[in-house]
Amino acid sequence: MKSVGVLISGRGSNLQALLDAQDAPGAYRIVRVISNVEGALGLERARAAGIDALTIPHQGKPREAFERELDAALQGCDLVALAGFMRVLSPWFVTAWSGRVLNIHPSLLPSFPGRDTHERALAAGVKLHGCTVHVVTEALDAGPIIGQAAIPVLRDDTPELLAARLLDAEHLLYPRALAAFAKGEAALLEKPLLSAWT
Ligand code: GAR
Repeated sequence: MKSVGVLISGRGSNLQALLDAQDAPGAYRIVRVISNVEGALGLERARAAGIDALTIPHQGKPREAFERELDAALQGCDLVALAGFMRVLSPWFVTAWSGRVLNIHPSLLPSFPGRDTHERALAAGVKLHGCTVHVVTEALDAGPIIGQAAIPVLRDDTPELLAARLLDAEHLLYPRALAAFAKGEAALLEKPLLSAWT
């Protein structure tokens, strides 16, 4: 059983999905939740589940100092799961936690890394959109892919509608991908473990 620290910045619906799934035969256990944003809803979700939750603000300090605080607070965790954590991690942090940090990204990588993925998917006219769980490396949203889930883009979609439908797919994908990774069933650079129509 791997212990997991989850980093969030906001609502925490993916955190909730990870929490809800962790009772299923023990691949991972969330032991700590850290937000860089004070008052993030995800902190309440963590506390409601009886999990240690704290805020480490990033403002007003050099990135290295922020990340050293994160690193210290994560000691004892085997893995780190980014769940709507909206800070780019530096090479120092990624090296310190090399191969042990996962992220969920709201696009079918390698399409649409970065922000505003739903707007950009609609503007590009893609017919399939989706989400990706990948290992975090120094290159933004470009680490080895563990799993993906795809949804169709509908004619009347707006970024908001697409984001909301995709969130359901994210909630299915992330717990499965994290559990597989924690069990060592998602070796780096293997073919994607999951691909789902939802
Ligand atoms: C999710 O859609 C997640 O994929 C995205 O932020 C949202 C967080 O929602 N993450 C990123 O854009 C990371 N670059 P949540 O707080 O409800 O889980």
